[in-house]
Amino acid sequence: MEQQKRYGHFDDNNREYVITDPQTPWPWINYLGNEDFFSLISNTAGGYSFYKDAKFRRITRYRYNNVPMDNGGRYFYIKDGDTVWNPGWKPCKTPLDFYECRHGMSYTRVTGRKNGVEASVLFFVPLKKWAEVQKLTLKNESNEVKNLKLFSFEEWCLWNAATDMENFQRNFSTGEVEIEGSTIYHKTEYRERRNHYAFYHVNTEIQGFDTDRETFVGLYNEFADPQVVMEGRPRNSHAHGWSPIASHYIEVTLKPGESKDFVFLLGYIENEQDKKFSAPQVINKDKAHALIAELDTTAKVDKAFAELCEYWDALLNIYKVRTGNDKLDRMVNIWNQYQCMVTFNFSRSASFFESGVGRGMGFRDSNQDLVGFVHQIPPRARQRIIDIASTQFPDGGCYHQYQPLTKRGNNDIGGGFNDDPCWLIFGTVAYIKETGDFSILDEMVPFDNQPGSEVTLFEHLKISMDHVIKNLGPHMLPLIGRADWNDCLNLNCFSWDPNESFQTTENVSEGTKAESLMIAGLFVVTGKDYVALCNKIEELKNGKIDNFNSSTLKSFNFSAEAERMQKAVDAMIEAVKKHGWDGEWYLRAYDFYGNKIGSNECEEAKIFIESQGWCTMAEIGAEDGMVAKSLDSCKKYLECEHGMVLNNPAFTKYIYEYGEISSYPEGYKENAGIFCHNNPWVIIGECIAGRGNDAWSHYAKILPSYVEEKYQTLHKVEPYVNCQMVAGKDAFKPGEGKNSWLTGTAAWMWYTVSEFILGIKPDYDGIRIDPCLPETAGDYTVNRKFRDAEYEITIHPNGQQKGVKSVTLDGQKIDGTVIPYSAGKHTVEVVM
Ligand code: BGC
Repeated sequence: MEQQKRYGHFDDNNREYVITDPQTPWPWINYLGNEDFFSLISNTAGGYSFYKDAKFRRITRYRYNNVPMDNGGRYFYIKDGDTVWNPGWKPCKTPLDFYECRHGMSYTRVTGRKNGVEASVLFFVPLKKWAEVQKLTLKNESNEVKNLKLFSFEEWCLWNAATDMENFQRNFSTGEVEIEGSTIYHKTEYRERRNHYAFYHVNTEIQGFDTDRETFVGLYNEFADPQVVMEGRPRNSHAHGWSPIASHYIEVTLKPGESKDFVFLLGYIENEQDKKFSAPQVINKDKAHALIAELDTTAKVDKAFAELCEYWDALLNIYKVRTGNDKLDRMVNIWNQYQCMVTFNFSRSASFFESGVGRGMGFRDSNQDLVGFVHQIPPRARQRIIDIASTQFPDGGCYHQYQPLTKRGNNDIGGGFNDDPCWLIFGTVAYIKETGDFSILDEMVPFDNQPGSEVTLFEHLKISMDHVIKNLGPHMLPLIGRADWNDCLNLNCFSWDPNESFQTTENVSEGTKAESLMIAGLFVVTGKDYVALCNKIEELKNGKIDNFNSSTLKSFNFSAEAERMQKAVDAMIEAVKKHGWDGEWYLRAYDFYGNKIGSNECEEAKIFIESQGWCTMAEIGAEDGMVAKSLDSCKKYLECEHGMVLNNPAFTKYIYEYGEISSYPEGYKENAGIFCHNNPWVIIGECIAGRGNDAWSHYAKILPSYVEEKYQTLHKVEPYVNCQMVAGKDAFKPGEGKNSWLTGTAAWMWYTVSEFILGIKPDYDGIRIDPCLPETAGDYTVNRKFRDAEYEITIHPNGQQKGVKSVTLDGQKIDGTVIPYSAGKHTVEVVM
């Protein structure tokens, strides 16, 4: 194997990834902010900020697809004599004497040293604040007095990130700013319908400023050599139209050994309609002043930072494992959970591969992300479920995506993805198991956000299941619609027109026979969950509690419903066994004409991963050996050095009746890429089947800490998080990663390792213990907070892959493997 260059390493004690070379193979980014105000920041301080919605409330400008990559961000230019440099190396790229970027939990610290001066910037968004703090510490480590000229830089986005990129005939005339002391206010379009503005402040007197980009940079210069910085003299420009920016100019004198802190604050404010102005044309700055006052000293900022760190301590204390394997522990305890928070917040909207304007929150995506996050902040998961369900239609179908700011379904993409409804059950069940909060089922939730259309959330679940049952094809398998989980398997599209979208075009759908085995498996898994939920409710209604308010639920016959759905599940299982089995693996689909997809009879793409994952999770035909055969086939045909590919062999030509999937070159994305999201499905299938060695070997292949150790250069993207896709065995460069951060892989890796490998499964009545481990696993301990209880669970695997022999709770052996929930602290010993 080629020796791979390393660009950084994990620092587990500080929960940081430390980047020691700014020239990473791709920008390695982090996310700041936890709830409303967010920023993306690269290891050279590139990136941007937004409020809630990366499309509609973009605060600072960023140019995707730029050359060079990742230009634009929050930059500090330090002019020391004739040398101009940046703490994060870019954009000047002046060689530094020292460089380090530490990406931590919702913060990033970038440090550079040049000619005896150290500049260290801590970037974070304080809890509950609509602002990014940039605390810059300048230190003179030389023996001489340093007279430095410091220029800050941010470029404003004109709010709507989409029109900001295209509507120049308007944009170049709307820009407006105000300057007051050390604060630069951005108020474009505030005079009309906007009631929000942004500001960039520094907590010291400034000796000048600039707010017009062309004046600051110079029309023929670049971020690397802005004319104002090169000349060492601000122009105090006031932007009128064109491109407004914010740059402070500060003269700093440092004695040998002396250091100074500067707190820069990028803030966002919303005013009430009747309080927009303090004088004609002058924005009301009261809220900005108040926000600034909360964060205008080093002490206040340090306190806010300590609070953020405590917040993460608490979040990461909910599930903690000690296995003695650092590579596993750091992913479980730190990075996987962190990525789950990020995917919960952003779905697939804003990353360095998602421009923030295209896709909002996905219906299926957000339900899956929730499973990785629900243990962290259950009330937020609860709200998310309601938001998602509110974009459903009365027939159980739903919008495929919605915008986070408006929470409205996205009309451009519409609906018709027939797996979508099932995921609502998946997310809701996970929420109830974690919290025991059945009252969520009683919440009144509208259809398509229309007031007056509300029914209970439970009824949304019911129509979700019914949507599948009412849309069965000729083999009694679920009709696929526009696509199932695999957005690129477009079996009703039939497009020869490059101007058509594969995902929204249905050139032929009348008389379609296209059916999905992936949805079949998903239906069986979520159907079983639904049945168990109905039975549980019945039990609670008759026995312990009856806490539903709505009359529909009070009188609803849940056991009859359980029976009804069980029949549908059984029928689906039969249909799969009869029409979905190819001899060695499950088929993937039937196309429009009723021809098999993912069959040995096919010329290419004989086997697909999705149906293997879902049908093995559903244990369809386990008794006939189907599950074991399917899992063996995954190993035989899909597995390679870097994980399991989506299909094999790859498509080598475009197939009209299959759609986008066959549009990708071999080995990439949905055409035989390692689409990491679906690897855990097979791993869970392995776990359910009790094959711990196989489960572990698949898992470790896509576990970032294992990849980090071997393949930093090849893998290319951030080594501390999963990416959506790794180029598969048929690709030009197998092992190369793409689309990092925003991927369902995060939640699925978490669900897999926390519940199926380590075996700590929240359930309605308590925690079910059911590990599935490699034979080599040693004893390990999980500390799990669960509702109002805290469990310390020690597992003794004794070389077993599966099967719990005994569970001892607080010194007493219990029957079965579910630790009954009771508040307080408990110790649990598990022998396998
Ligand atoms: C989408 C998912 C989809 C997956 C596979 C992702 O980019 O966000 O919704 O299931 O691709 O096509």
